[in-house]
Amino acid sequence: MTIRLGDVAPDFTADTTEGPISFHEWLGDGWGILFSHPKDFTPVCTTELGGFAARKAEFDQRNTKLIAVSVDDVESHNRWKADIGETSGTPLNFPIIGDEKHTVADLYGMIHPNANDTLTVRSVFIIGPDKKVKLTLTYPASVGRNVDEIVRVLDSLQLSAQFPVSTPLNWKDGDEVIIAGSVSDEEATAKFPKGFRKVKDYLRFTPQPNK
Ligand code: BEZ
Repeated sequence: MTIRLGDVAPDFTADTTEGPISFHEWLGDGWGILFSHPKDFTPVCTTELGGFAARKAEFDQRNTKLIAVSVDDVESHNRWKADIGETSGTPLNFPIIGDEKHTVADLYGMIHPNANDTLTVRSVFIIGPDKKVKLTLTYPASVGRNVDEIVRVLDSLQLSAQFPVSTPLNWKDGDEVIIAGSVSDEEATAKFPKGFRKVKDYLRFTPQPNK
């Protein structure tokens, strides 16, 4: 199945390293990140899960839950968890879904048969409080993800959910943002009391409104 931006994230029940979950219920009212890794006891995956565990507080601050998945079972995940804690220095602090029947992988199109017909690629799905998919990323098995980039896009998504703005090239939290084209100059003056600078009619920058 192909998941597109704006789709409702498919719901499922699954066994995880923290017990059985019903995905939408587990997400609750906040944001969620579902990300797949190809296989347990593999080097890149081990660095990734340890790296996300070490940065979990940043996701908590953003009201965002993390959940990983791979086609291994929970018993395997539980054995692997010790290695993740040992190598990263942070015990794994979010659940990993056991998906040996490929239920979640198939629902989210995480197996790309022309890359590998049994293992998942490195997918990232950011899901909003409305349970809709806000962002998808796909990396091959050979490329580990970048936590800074995931936090950066989450900040951008949460900002544009709150204000009529988008974020420019290489934006990071605290930088100027772009005022949506649907907002007139008059409305922008009222909505963005710090003012704005107009480069073109369609390109207006304002200081980040929630800073
Ligand atoms: C890894 O995590 O290192 C990995 C996993 C599956 C295939 C290739 C690399």
